[in-house]
Amino acid sequence: MAEWCADHLRNCEGWKSAGLELSTTSDENAKWLDASIRQLVSWTDCASLGGFHETLVNLTKSDPEAIMGRTFLVGLAGLGTEATARDPAFVETMKKLESDAEKYANPREKRHVKAAVLWGRGEHHEAADEWDSIIDDYPTDLIAIKFSHDAHFFNGNCKGKKDAIEKIINKWKPDLPMYSYLHGMYAFGLEECGLYGDAETEADKALNLNRFDCWASHAKAHVLEMNGRHKEGKEFMYRTEDDWKKGWMIATHNYWHTALFHIEFGEYEDALSIFDREISKRFLRSNSLLDMVDASSILWRLELEGVDVGKDRWRKLEHLAKYIDNHSIVFNDVHLGVALYKQGDLETEKNLRASLEKYTNVLSEDNAKISKEIGMPLYDGMLDYARCDYDTAAETMFPIRDKVVQIGGSHAQRDVFVQTLIQSCIMSKDPKNWSLTPQLLIERETMKHDSLLGQRLAEKFRARHPL
Ligand SMILES: [Fe+2]
Repeated sequence: MAEWCADHLRNCEGWKSAGLELSTTSDENAKWLDASIRQLVSWTDCASLGGFHETLVNLTKSDPEAIMGRTFLVGLAGLGTEATARDPAFVETMKKLESDAEKYANPREKRHVKAAVLWGRGEHHEAADEWDSIIDDYPTDLIAIKFSHDAHFFNGNCKGKKDAIEKIINKWKPDLPMYSYLHGMYAFGLEECGLYGDAETEADKALNLNRFDCWASHAKAHVLEMNGRHKEGKEFMYRTEDDWKKGWMIATHNYWHTALFHIEFGEYEDALSIFDREISKRFLRSNSLLDMVDASSILWRLELEGVDVGKDRWRKLEHLAKYIDNHSIVFNDVHLGVALYKQGDLETEKNLRASLEKYTNVLSEDNAKISKEIGMPLYDGMLDYARCDYDTAAETMFPIRDKVVQIGGSHAQRDVFVQTLIQSCIMSKDPKNWSLTPQLLIERETMKHDSLLGQRLAEKFRARHPL
């Protein structure tokens, strides 16, 4: 942890000598900015700084007008998928930032403002391009690197995620603060591109440099998941739990990965226990959309496997109604719709569906277009499955299956849609739908090797539709 303790934070001169000059003249603000990005990249609180949330408060307090501090907060809110251009307060914040940047920002800061505001206004691909172009000119700009990494994730751009780190990792000197975290980010980009061997090498490199790099642990979990190394994955996650759980910002998701390994083995009680012990409780504390996605996903996957998780578990996902007009990324909306339906809150689910439809008809931002073309059919297909209308679910989801990557998330996360489509086909009555199953099983096996869950799906298909 020591590398990002308060003693090593950069003041204005420190940022300038790193080639990343700030327009603020407040050394305190410059240091809090460094503290903010370092904690964000590590997904972890630095106790000596009072933790991430306290750091953000101090970032603003130390210089409320500082351009880069405000830009960081706008980028953070947008990429946290909580704030959107439909939130009037956020719109005002972005407008004021843009106008002040015109007057006070230096050229690099102006580019950061442009990227953060583009993201906030829903121009997600253009924003990612802008962050990438900053990295081209400022290879050690960790804020641009982190925001680009997250933007590519939400854009479903696997290659972009890999390439952005690949082009700069050798330009960093290993003694720069946070250097080791580049290997964890690179590992995840490589993994999403299917380059599993290289991804594991990079994840191990990151973990050898810093065993607390929970994003590298996460990348390694992905590699083990996609390669069917479930026993190894489970052992790895439990053996290193005390290391990666310090990264509270991603801990829910790492517990979700641990639960996935259990589901592969049919160890449903263990997966439920992780939901009860960690995932649901962490969601209740954070009430964040990112944690909601993991919670909804794990319960849905267990139900696909025939487990009765009980309505009470779904109802542990409280206060979901406040998100129904959010629409920052449709990946969230689909998980939200499923959770609302399974809770039995059909009225709110109906309102979410209507709000999403209206959003796709009125707006033309990136997510609105993707929601219209891919998100809505996916949403409908998932809900058709929930209503046991398997033929309609299969017919709705099959034609869009190759495009679902565009809604963002990882391959492992989107496997929930693949599993639902396969289950829909197996359960369909119409031969034209259930006859698609073998093809879909092969497609899944190509992406996700040696899946025990895949073998169970194949067995279920053969039992329902014998030759
Ligand atoms: Fe993941």
